[in-house]
Amino acid sequence: MRSFHIITFGCQMNEHDSERMTGILRDRGCAPVQDAEDADMVILNTCSIREKAEQKFYSELGRLKQLKVEKPHMKIAVAGCIAQQEGANILARAPYVDMVFGPSDVARLSVMIETAFSRRSPVVDTSGDPEYHRKRIPTSRGDKIKAWVSIMYGCDNFCTYCVVPYLRGKECSRPSEDIVNEVSELAQQGYKEVTLLGQNVNSYGKGLGQDVDFPALLRMVNDVPDLERIRFVTSHPRDLSDGLIDAVRDLPKVCESLHLPVQSGSDNILHVMNRRYTRADYMGKVKKLRDAVPSITLTTDIIVGFPGESAKDFEATKKLLEEVQYDGIFAFKYSKRPGTAALKLSGHLTESVKESRLTEVLALQREITIQKNKAYIGMHMDVLIDGKSKKGGKLSGRTRGNKVVNVAGPRSLIGSLVTVRITATGVNSLSGEICE
Ligand code: 5AD
Ligand code: SF4
Repeated sequence: MRSFHIITFGCQMNEHDSERMTGILRDRGCAPVQDAEDADMVILNTCSIREKAEQKFYSELGRLKQLKVEKPHMKIAVAGCIAQQEGANILARAPYVDMVFGPSDVARLSVMIETAFSRRSPVVDTSGDPEYHRKRIPTSRGDKIKAWVSIMYGCDNFCTYCVVPYLRGKECSRPSEDIVNEVSELAQQGYKEVTLLGQNVNSYGKGLGQDVDFPALLRMVNDVPDLERIRFVTSHPRDLSDGLIDAVRDLPKVCESLHLPVQSGSDNILHVMNRRYTRADYMGKVKKLRDAVPSITLTTDIIVGFPGESAKDFEATKKLLEEVQYDGIFAFKYSKRPGTAALKLSGHLTESVKESRLTEVLALQREITIQKNKAYIGMHMDVLIDGKSKKGGKLSGRTRGNKVVNVAGPRSLIGSLVTVRITATGVNSLSGEICE
């Protein structure tokens, strides 16, 4: 029996792909181990969305190089987006790597391992699998209460800063019956919450040849017995339809929480980013959402320092944050990505301008989040307890709006829905007492 260790970088999609690799490897009798030092094989599941993620990977790879000097029999595999982007180039830079495979080559992992262990030369397979979205891949999940379920792969949007469409390929939706079967099995196993995953879930169903769009899929998943909560990421604002707003309003299991990446508050920048909506379009959708579902929580992604972003454009982004009053944001400095259209734009900004703009938006949002969270004091919230909190030895869970709540209580409550009266709030979490 061989042992393996997976190191995952990047998004939930990658986390879930790692659960699949674990499933495949366990099925063939391999055992996961906590430390790379104890493993016969180490897989790096990589992310290339920003340069920083790439740097993290290369520094980890350097560490493994040292380890391999001490343990020459150990195999090193590079998976995910950097593998797809670089292919055999990785071997030129790191000849001690044994396997390189892309995100949609995971189903062939077993065969690749056989080859890597039986012959001395490295295996590179980033050819992709056009049938990947139809395959049921064994999955060994890291959580017993909340599960990720892929509903689509790839992205056709080609936002000019983004490398994803080049690496994850064209949009492909999974057949709805496969998704519903997977969710039903999860509910039978005791899972309480699913998060439906895709780069652009709102365009689910395109090209599938079935009469099922994303709101229709949500209705099907909502009908699965014994499931408590449904979440989904990521929604492209352009494709956020009235039908989806109705689904969030009407379906009891769909949580009142939406991640709706705006990227910028400036129409000039949105246009050059190829986002295909204006600030007014976006604000109109936010208003519709809040009119239909007043308790909805909203989060977003922001890129600061996109090429050509003037002081005025940046002010427009800050103004948008003030107007929308998000519950939280993920903000990033623009990062140059190979092969993307934004690379060739003029007006690239200096690192120090990007850094100071990032600091500014984060500080602004911090105050907004603190103020918004204060409004929860005294409220009674349904909280799904999903584990222990990182500090203080309390239990931790989430509201339907996806706010983290810490409460005192017995471990036996993990997996249960409880009502909590909120007594204190901070920037990252709320805390309270369980109501009897
Ligand atoms: N630079 C900075 N941020 C980026 N994102 C995607 N590409 C880049 C890039 N080149 C951000 C976007 C996206 C999130 C997942 O990552 O905000 O929504
Ligand atoms: Fe990238 Fe835009 Fe596709 Fe999101 S929608 S993955 S930002 S190209």
